[in-house]
Amino acid sequence: MTTSAAGNVEVQPSGAALGADIVGINLQTDLTDATFAQIEDAWHQHSVLRFRGQQLDDDTLAAFSARFGALDMAPVTRSGKPYILERPEITVLSNVVVDGKAMGALGNSELVWHQDMSYNELPPKASLLYGIEVPKEGGDTQFYSLYEAYNTLPADLARRIQGVTCKHDATRTSSGELRHGYEESYSNEERPGAVHPLVVRHPASGRKALYLGRRPNAWIVGLSNADSDALLDELWAHIANHDFVWTQQWQVGDLVIWDNRCALHRRNQLDPATRRLMHRTQVQDVATPVAGWD
Ligand code: OGA
Ligand code: MN
Repeated sequence: MTTSAAGNVEVQPSGAALGADIVGINLQTDLTDATFAQIEDAWHQHSVLRFRGQQLDDDTLAAFSARFGALDMAPVTRSGKPYILERPEITVLSNVVVDGKAMGALGNSELVWHQDMSYNELPPKASLLYGIEVPKEGGDTQFYSLYEAYNTLPADLARRIQGVTCKHDATRTSSGELRHGYEESYSNEERPGAVHPLVVRHPASGRKALYLGRRPNAWIVGLSNADSDALLDELWAHIANHDFVWTQQWQVGDLVIWDNRCALHRRNQLDPATRRLMHRTQVQDVATPVAGWD
């Protein structure tokens, strides 16, 4: 447990490679500047924070999220409208279907390890996810420290990725679904997406992190398909072989914020017979990922 003189919350690290609980705050009613500063410091230190037992309405969720920076507009639904008309910053994630219509995005699927929207030039720096209805079992969200992933790379592999960039595929969601308006197949050169360094330096912590996005359709710029796949497989095997993971088992009223610049996340599969309903916001970054090689 750590407390700081300025703020008045308790920070309880998870004991895993990342993640901490923030205890002693009701975000619906009290948040001083000093306490927010303490929370932001803890976030930079632990990459993922959880606030249990909250009762947030959408206005408070949006207002708290906006303390971290300007909010992105949520993607619109298939009908072209925001999920919540009065709060277009909020994305609804749900597996619930009403009258044949999905209430939210991402359904029941298992999601692969990913960073959110890294196929954009300027990916969000943070995502906040709030649990409104959660199943008793299934649908856990896992987080993975990309600082630790970088720190533990074999020296030879770390050397080989200095100065190397990767193209992040824009055509599929984290559940593997083809996004509206994209085709089934592209060459690596033509594929829509954004190019980022494989090693980045976090602007707040100054620490270096691997920057991987997601494995499907990634391409190491300039390499042949075979050489690119070999290097990416080596990096993702490093991820799979190390347990720098913290698992969030959801309770109603949990709010989780993750740092999208230095953590991967994924979701385990959901039983379609259970209900899961979450509201999410995303905070814009102010600069594109900065290369972390010396
Ligand atoms: C997301 C996401 C995971 C989850 O909102 O970006 O990956 O557990 N969600 O729903
Ligand atoms: Mn995601």
